[in-house]
Amino acid sequence: MPTATYQTRRGELLHYFDRTALRTWERLTSDAPVSGIRATVRAGRDAMRATLLSWLPDDLSGRRVLDAGCGTGALAMEAALRGAHVVAIDIAPGLIDVARQRTAHLRGAGRVEFMVGDMFDPALGRFDHVVAMDSLIHYRPEDTVRVLAGLAQRTDRSVAFTFAPRTPLLSAMHAAGRFFPRGDRAPSIVPVGEAHLRSLIAAEPGMDAFELGRHRRIRSGFYTSHAMELCRR
Ligand SMILES: C[S@@+](CC[C@H](N)C(=O)[O-])C[C@H]1O[C@@H](n2cnc3c(N)ncnc32)[C@H](O)[C@@H]1O
Repeated sequence: MPTATYQTRRGELLHYFDRTALRTWERLTSDAPVSGIRATVRAGRDAMRATLLSWLPDDLSGRRVLDAGCGTGALAMEAALRGAHVVAIDIAPGLIDVARQRTAHLRGAGRVEFMVGDMFDPALGRFDHVVAMDSLIHYRPEDTVRVLAGLAQRTDRSVAFTFAPRTPLLSAMHAAGRFFPRGDRAPSIVPVGEAHLRSLIAAEPGMDAFELGRHRRIRSGFYTSHAMELCRR
């Protein structure tokens, strides 16, 4: 069951991604030119998406894939082009609208089913693979791990996700964010140490059916994110 802290944070994220940052996010995830700092973030995010996609089989025909917190749908689109049936879900209806427009002309072996809602919803059914790119980085590590365990229970092969590693730069940005007036700030990213995250995962009930697989940290300007893979034993 999602905790109160998870639900509160999800509400803040909905407001942020559906209102405050909707157009910025639409632009960042498009081909439109962006300023220097944002260009480094875009490059980092492109590298992260490529990494997560490279951890999936080349041929995804017949596989059911969840893009958990899909945003404007770039990862979902690429997985569908490789044959997957992708369920792409996000809490922000505005981002799902953008994603639907961008995939309107998608042709390929697979397909994407976009949905507005919570990635944690068990009604989404079972998946072969789940990918959550930068969509759990704003939650408390304990909530993140609980969501991962819920997703893993319904996953037959792998769950790949990213976390914000606790680095001096990210910790400083996290601390500085507290000085901004509440209404102006983005919901802060919650950095977590890799060792601490691994121990939380190991201690979470149900996770013994999974082992940690590949992992990779990507750093590009202001973008730092660390991908990890959980594979069913
Ligand atoms: C940083 S964006 C990343 C979007 C996309 N994965 C990408 O990499 O382009 C985080 C996304 O996660 C979504 N999100 C956060 N919590 C969610 C939840 N509980 N269920 C579904 N989507 C969620 C947000 O609305 C937002 O679109």
